[in-house]
Amino acid sequence: MPREHSRAFAPGRVNLIGEHTDYNRGLSLPFAIAAGVTVRAEALAPGAGGEQRIEALASDLGERDEFPLAAPAPAEGWRAYVRGIVAELARAGWPLVGARLQISGGVPPGAGLSSSAALEVALCLALIDLASPEEAGAQRERLERTELARLCARVENEWVGAQTGLLDQLASLYGSVEEALRIDFSTLEITPVPLRLGGWRAVVLDSGEPHVHASSGYNQRRAECARACELLGVESLREAFPDDVRRLPEPLARRVAHVIGENERVRLAVSALRADDLPAVARLLNASHASLRDDYEVSTPALEAAVARLLAGGAAGARLIGGGFGGSVLGLLAPGLDPPAGAREVRPGPGAHLVND
Ligand code: GLA
Repeated sequence: MPREHSRAFAPGRVNLIGEHTDYNRGLSLPFAIAAGVTVRAEALAPGAGGEQRIEALASDLGERDEFPLAAPAPAEGWRAYVRGIVAELARAGWPLVGARLQISGGVPPGAGLSSSAALEVALCLALIDLASPEEAGAQRERLERTELARLCARVENEWVGAQTGLLDQLASLYGSVEEALRIDFSTLEITPVPLRLGGWRAVVLDSGEPHVHASSGYNQRRAECARACELLGVESLREAFPDDVRRLPEPLARRVAHVIGENERVRLAVSALRADDLPAVARLLNASHASLRDDYEVSTPALEAAVARLLAGGAAGARLIGGGFGGSVLGLLAPGLDPPAGAREVRPGPGAHLVND
């Protein structure tokens, strides 16, 4: 039996380290944050002709959308996510019912904290729970969550035009309190790693430059990695070795050097966290940023300025997070230091869940 209404929350994420590795079947270490998107879904009676509709209201933007449940047409902006999720859930065989959706959120769009993944995931959970609450219980299981992450990534790829990987969605779906997630994108194995910060603080600072995947250099970087794979005769850069870098022309050589180095930095960061060695984690953040700036070339003057502000404010390590080309930077502050003006503290929080009362 469908419910009358359902409410779901999905968090944004901060990636501690392991950037531009997800679509290269590499390693990442993200955590879910407290800020996220809430979707309230209310069952909507069919129209006079029996047609089921979706009405959506983006509360923070004061914008709305309306479309037939059976045939969502492509759209721009936030509407592309809503229509894409509805279409892909239906295509995957999830039973859906007409609904009025109210979307509200505390993840600033464009800040590089995955407001879009949070929106996709919250929509999925609310729509599934509204139509079939018993399924919504089952989807807590691992396989279903990973399937949902894939479905959300298809929406990014096919409805929004961003060739993103699974990092943001998996982080939002699997997030857990006081833990980061080591994700191996070659197997999709997810291993929680305790994030014991002690007196240290993780802070994010918005560069003020909005980050938009579809129109940034993100898709181009992805294409460069695919080209490097072709030239090396491998299926993914996970199979590339440091020696391979010399066989590639520029800029592909530097792109591959970043990916190989970044995977190694994730391994080292996991070991450092297990040993409570936060200074080592901070040094790895700096190394990751240098690689993203010099080899992967996804930094911008605004991101550099934000990193410089965090370091000047006493951060032991700082780096751009997410796809780059705008968005936020992450810094690690040693005990006793206050976050610089404009920076806000982030802590690992729970993954996506229903919040029905
Ligand atoms: C964005 C994408 C992710 C990932 C990161 C870079 O956040 O959505 O899939 O590729 O960039 O690590």
